[in-house]
Amino acid sequence: LTHLLSTEGLSRETITRILDTAQSFLEVSDRNVKKVPLLRGKSVFNLFFENSTRTRTTFEIAAKRLSADVINLDVSRSSTAKGETLLDTIDNLVSMHADMFVVRHSESGAPYLIAQHLHRIGRNDVHVVNAGDGRHAHPTQGLLDMYTIRHYKQDFSALTVAIVGDVLHSRVARSDIHALKTLGVREIRIIGPQTLLPAEGERLGVHVCHDPRKGLVDCDVIIMLRLQNERMSGALLPSAREYFHCYGLTPALLALARPDAIVMHPGPINRGVEIASEIADGKQAVILRQVTFGIAVRMAVMSLLAGTHAGTQA
Ligand code: CP
Repeated sequence: LTHLLSTEGLSRETITRILDTAQSFLEVSDRNVKKVPLLRGKSVFNLFFENSTRTRTTFEIAAKRLSADVINLDVSRSSTAKGETLLDTIDNLVSMHADMFVVRHSESGAPYLIAQHLHRIGRNDVHVVNAGDGRHAHPTQGLLDMYTIRHYKQDFSALTVAIVGDVLHSRVARSDIHALKTLGVREIRIIGPQTLLPAEGERLGVHVCHDPRKGLVDCDVIIMLRLQNERMSGALLPSAREYFHCYGLTPALLALARPDAIVMHPGPINRGVEIASEIADGKQAVILRQVTFGIAVRMAVMSLLAGTHAGTQA
């Protein structure tokens, strides 16, 4: 694996290897992450052309726990504002001896463009990690979601997973669906209003449902999504209040799922829109554990890409 651009196409063995490696970083305590020298002397550049709290920060923590040098490009103060192209920026950062780029961009495909460019200029030793591109993919979120599900539920083949809300604009949903299918989950349901579910829902191999009172019945895992207003253009949408009334996860809706169901959310959460506060703060929510697991999963991805983790093939 040279780059991590999507969960689509990753084999079950590769995903399992990433999750097992992440687990090894959490061995001592599943709340603490060890510091290791696996990326000592390497430079990791965080290039976030779109806002982020969790992903940018946990990548930085993960790279530092791997002993890498971390450079956070302040995009708003960079020369992209003066008209420099993305690939010219990359060429300059490669000249500064970048070993890895962690890229978030509002345009689907931007990390692919960078990976192709690096190949073209013969720099296959420089790695790209997609930290979220447009509505396309967010593979490390997908992988940390798989880590979280495995941590709480172990056997994917026994699970029914519901993904609720704005699936249409969600790169997280796509990354989760690909990974869940590869890991052999029993059933995936996507639940939301017709305007916020992808037309290709059935083709994705998932069950499509517009009524959460039906879709949530007997689910083991519920992944809530926020309305991604920044990716909507002219869509006819309900108000936040109407949306919460129909699709917001409340105690009454959660009671339809299995009693031991876990509630996940990639964040940021919008309380009173897609999720009630008592659920977000309740005992079935594992939302903040997802964030912590994200550090170890990102450490695993970076060390495996760099080929520095024990047992990594050259
Ligand atoms: N889950 C996620 O991508 O959150 P951020 O946008 O804060 O990084």
